Amino acid sequence: MSPEEFRRHGHAVIDWIADYLADPEGWPVLPSVKPGDLRKSLPASPPEHGESMESILADFERLIVPASTHWNHPDFMAYFPNSATGAGVLGEALSAALNVNAMLWRTTPAGTELETHTLDWLRQMIGLPDKFFGVIGDTASANTLYALAAARELHPELRIREEGMSGRVDLPRLTIYCSEEAHSSVDKAVMTLGYGLESLRKIPTDSALRMDPRALRDAVKNDVRAGRIPIAVVATVGTTSTTAVDPVPAIVELSERHGMWLHVDASYAGVAAILPEMRDVLAGCERAESLVVNPHKWLFTPVDCSALYTRRPDLLKRAFQHIPEYLVVSEGAGVTNLMNYSIALGRRFRALKLWFVIRNFGVDGLRSLIREHIRIARKLAEWIDDDPEFERMAEANFSTVVFRHCPPGMSATELDAHNARLVERVLATREVFLSHTRVRGKYALRIAIGNIHTTEEHVRHALELVREAARAEA
Ligand SMILES: Cc1ncc(COP(=O)(O)O)c(C=O)c1O
Repeated sequence: MSPEEFRRHGHAVIDWIADYLADPEGWPVLPSVKPGDLRKSLPASPPEHGESMESILADFERLIVPASTHWNHPDFMAYFPNSATGAGVLGEALSAALNVNAMLWRTTPAGTELETHTLDWLRQMIGLPDKFFGVIGDTASANTLYALAAARELHPELRIREEGMSGRVDLPRLTIYCSEEAHSSVDKAVMTLGYGLESLRKIPTDSALRMDPRALRDAVKNDVRAGRIPIAVVATVGTTSTTAVDPVPAIVELSERHGMWLHVDASYAGVAAILPEMRDVLAGCERAESLVVNPHKWLFTPVDCSALYTRRPDLLKRAFQHIPEYLVVSEGAGVTNLMNYSIALGRRFRALKLWFVIRNFGVDGLRSLIREHIRIARKLAEWIDDDPEFERMAEANFSTVVFRHCPPGMSATELDAHNARLVERVLATREVFLSHTRVRGKYALRIAIGNIHTTEEHVRHALELVREAARAEA
């Protein structure tokens, strides 16, 4: 592609993005495609000869956009929404252009130092002390896995780095603890790292779906008595289902007493701590060994960007540093080589978009957006509470509300099936994307507010669609 052609297509692409971001409601939030539709419309084999960018971009508009679920749409209220903001998209584009690989300081001094620096800003924003060192990973799932790998290095005498965990009669079972509401990434990490799912203790929760610290204490005691070694606890600040906040101050007492690694999964709700009035959601986290928070969830940064903070970068490094000759450098201890803190050698320059977002919005701008989302969620909770046909299933601690429709006279099983049908009816309108969960076994609807364009009106409309679906079921 000649520079002139690049300029022409680049301008066209930027124009397209500008229009798309200016009118995110131009497409329905959910596409009207069936599984396999897109593949049927694509050639079975790759083009032998290069095609024009005109034709490629035309296919992007004709085939790809209509088959996309629009996460940028203000009616996207499923899972945890996110936003591709202008600053974030431009940062992403420039990082693709620079195409640096942030494995060593020398392979990108800017990529390396901006990552450390931007995460230091974010650390200050959420009120963690300066002993926390931050690295960016692709997802919270990967970062939790890295934390649980580093946790073993609190016990160098176990020689896991050297001898591994299999085939050893000298190695007792190593146990990990999280609440029964913790994200499935903890299970996946435990499976992947070779601890085994049977080593994962799912601790019961209290009436507010928070880990019960007494049950944790009993489980740990029980394991110690049986000769097992408690290795780590994962506490969640903002659980996936209901955004419950585990009592980190009580959990950290216990993890310190038993020499465990405390990892806090604050991947969704951690950013709420940038609000002075919400600072205490991270109370106790200053004593955790690690914490993950995702700018790609609720900090207006396009996927992917997940921040892992740790007070023990030495142990994270012990878990992952392995330097072959071809990666030996002469800079010495004065520089950080980010490849040493995770499994990936090659690392994208993700800090650039986060730096753009933080600078362009300013901390104040980010605070007002998050504050507004919390305000809307509280409104929604009020509307639900005021309607006797709805039942709220959990506290709306942040910007997510979990509820169900309960017309009188239905059994528990009927209520589950009824609410599952409501979700399907609402999704069939393609006017809003909401998701579901189960709270103590009961099927529930879940509306999460996190997209930059979502207003009170959008949320009111979403609830109205649920009401319409309920009327249609009656
Ligand atoms: C509490 C919690 N932890 C971890 C994850 C996984 O995040 P990621 O997609 O970045 O791996 C999620 C996803 O929603 C989550 O809600």
